[in-house]
Amino acid sequence: MKLAMFGTGYVGLVTGTCFADLGNDVICVDIDQKKIDQLKKGIIPIYEPGLSDLVKRNVKAKRLNFTIDAAKAIKESEIIFICVGTPQGNTGKADLQYVLDVAKAIGEQMDDYKIIVTKSTVPVGTGDKVKRFIRNELYKRKSKLEFDVVSNPEFLKEGAAIKDFQNPDRVVIGVENGKAKKILENLYQPVARTNKPVVFMDVKSSELTKYAANAMLATRISLMNEIAALCEEVGADIKQVAKGIGLDSRIGSRFLSAGAGYGGSCFPKDVKALIQTLENHGFNTSILRAVDYVNERQKKSIVPKLKRFLPDLEGKKIALWGLSFKPKTDDMREAPSLTIVDQLSEEYATVSCYDPEAMENAKVMFAKHKNTEFCGNSYDCLKDADALIIITEWDEFRSPDFKRMKELMQKHIIIDGRNIYDPEEIARQGFSYAGVGK
Ligand SMILES: NC(=O)c1ccc[n+]([C@@H]2O[C@H](COP(=O)([O-])OP(=O)(O)OC[C@H]3O[C@@H](n4cnc5c(N)ncnc54)[C@H](O)[C@@H]3O)[C@@H](O)[C@H]2O)c1
Repeated sequence: MKLAMFGTGYVGLVTGTCFADLGNDVICVDIDQKKIDQLKKGIIPIYEPGLSDLVKRNVKAKRLNFTIDAAKAIKESEIIFICVGTPQGNTGKADLQYVLDVAKAIGEQMDDYKIIVTKSTVPVGTGDKVKRFIRNELYKRKSKLEFDVVSNPEFLKEGAAIKDFQNPDRVVIGVENGKAKKILENLYQPVARTNKPVVFMDVKSSELTKYAANAMLATRISLMNEIAALCEEVGADIKQVAKGIGLDSRIGSRFLSAGAGYGGSCFPKDVKALIQTLENHGFNTSILRAVDYVNERQKKSIVPKLKRFLPDLEGKKIALWGLSFKPKTDDMREAPSLTIVDQLSEEYATVSCYDPEAMENAKVMFAKHKNTEFCGNSYDCLKDADALIIITEWDEFRSPDFKRMKELMQKHIIIDGRNIYDPEEIARQGFSYAGVGK
């Protein structure tokens, strides 16, 4: 099938590439000329495991192309995916300007029946808005062309995005009629063949499913972080509590890790956007407001743990391991490291940091903090450090050379924001240690 992907970010580039790998002809469109130029040269603008090879293979096979020419992409495609960003607007509401820009362009340029698939995370009712925008442009040119708008929210996890496309828990598709359903069934047939559920529903339920999923996951994390705070007060261990409840089949063991709070381009903004939607419909949003509040509090709880060991941080050198919002991605959006670096700067500490993939993004995002040093590896940033904070649980931090760390560091303090170390083992190694919820 001939597909166009509008937006070549984490979602559009991965989805477009994976669809090309299934034999479809895919054209990826972006308004960012630099990104498209890089992609044409085989440079992948984001870090996602396995993506670079998959892009190269499909470009070579001429199934995957990149362009800024929206009109050409619209005209040449049967199915047009909208994968552009839906960032947080100023009231917390999702900002739909990029989605509606694409809808407008489709209405202006389409010359045949098209299926428009919204993959971006959009508030319930956006499908109707997209339809109105397209219809309005068609009306202006007195065209009676037909089209269908479909909702197909994306559930990929950065760091495992290709695996998630190839082996999803489920695919959710919101359709309005049998014609669109049949075309989408065909497109997703390679997934359905592996016995993965492809669930069809109405468009509004599909749009809401995405927000409900992210709100549920964020709620689990904030609940565990709240219980972790209680564990610290009463001398319980959150890891043992998580194990105890996770074995209950009604609860399950995933998303029960206490830590430095959730971040990323989805949970924070999607929780806030769902709050807005609920409030616009007159609901009291005490659950989700608490989820958001606990998360903000959690991100701010790491530096106070450090201050128990080093009450005055002025002039102290604090090493940070892990800056991206989670491992296996270079995505720094809403990462807890941003809050932690802000707090350390306010205390006049100096920061030396390292992340296996997010250093370039971090340099841009920490540009205002002149007291920040970016190091080439995890040990370089420990030199003369007064303490180390683990913010993101990259695998390479799990079994470090503690002896070498001790030799490099001036003081031997570790704040483990992701509970990756065993406190007893760390104590045996001669470090002072604080984790989360123990
Ligand atoms: N990143 C994730 O893990 C993830 C997972 C599930 C859902 N989502 C949702 O998917 C959507 C995209 O997220 P992302 O992380 O890929 O965003 P992103 O910011 O990485 O990429 C968006 C891209 O869209 C481009 N763009 C903007 N306007 C455009 C236009 N008119 N035409 C063509 N391109 C345009 C931007 O230049 C950018 O490259 C969001 O709604 C997000 O909430 C993201």
